[in-house]
Amino acid sequence: MGLSILRTVDALRERVRCFRNAGESVAVVPTMGALHRGHLSLVETAKANADRVIVTLFVNPKQFNNASDLKAYPRTEADDAAKLAPLAVDVLFAPDVAEMYGTGFSTNVSVAGVSDGLCGAHRPGHFDGVATVVAKLLLQSGADYACFGEKDYQQLLVVRRLVADLNIPTGIIACPTVRETDGLALSSRNVRLSTQERQKAPAMAEILFESARRLTDGVQAGIVLNDARSALEDVGFDRVEYFELRDAETLQPMEHADRPARLLAAAWLGETRLIDNVPVAPSAF
Ligand code: PAF
Repeated sequence: MGLSILRTVDALRERVRCFRNAGESVAVVPTMGALHRGHLSLVETAKANADRVIVTLFVNPKQFNNASDLKAYPRTEADDAAKLAPLAVDVLFAPDVAEMYGTGFSTNVSVAGVSDGLCGAHRPGHFDGVATVVAKLLLQSGADYACFGEKDYQQLLVVRRLVADLNIPTGIIACPTVRETDGLALSSRNVRLSTQERQKAPAMAEILFESARRLTDGVQAGIVLNDARSALEDVGFDRVEYFELRDAETLQPMEHADRPARLLAAAWLGETRLIDNVPVAPSAF
């Protein structure tokens, strides 16, 4: 059978029941659509780990702290379905807002600690929206596995904490960031960049990788982070929200790269907010 587009939780549950009755395992790939190669790599990982693959497509209003950002978010369901069909995805679950947040919806899932700081500080309420919708999608699909990209590293840690704390029996699989040949991390927001902005955008990845190398070489974090923020501004990024060295598991700030760490950045090019991150190998110095 080809790709089924399902719009209700009941229909999704019924389909998953059929998979279960046949003894099949299930992986889910939560998305907000506007699918690119990064999403398709999540689908490939899902297929490698389970018999059946569900992709969810829901532009979740609760995770947008800015109404114009929500309005401008690309909605391309027909194109998305066409991209998934050749990959032998079983279900595209595309509910509307009323199906996800019916009359009287009153629950908010909030993950303390890893949600604070970084994107959490700059996008108030964003991770509550993510945690709420991801909890719903995992419970609705009852999937054995769910795939999330490392591109949204803080989100990945929020989801890991969420499933651990709520005993949601879904294994979270982290998938590496997919990049353009010039290094720019794939994102549904990249289509909003003007030609000039698109030329500047890969500098974020370049500066992240170069900074990670310097940290591993033993250069002091304060110096590296200041240089990196200045370098982003020199390239023409309009506003650097953060460029930080954080513990890879807890996201606590770090003074020295003396244990596994992550460098994370967020900055604006015109009207487009870009985020990216890279691992930092511990320094021997
Ligand atoms: O990463 C995303 O696209 C979204 O935050 C997610 C996980 C699908 C939740 O809406």
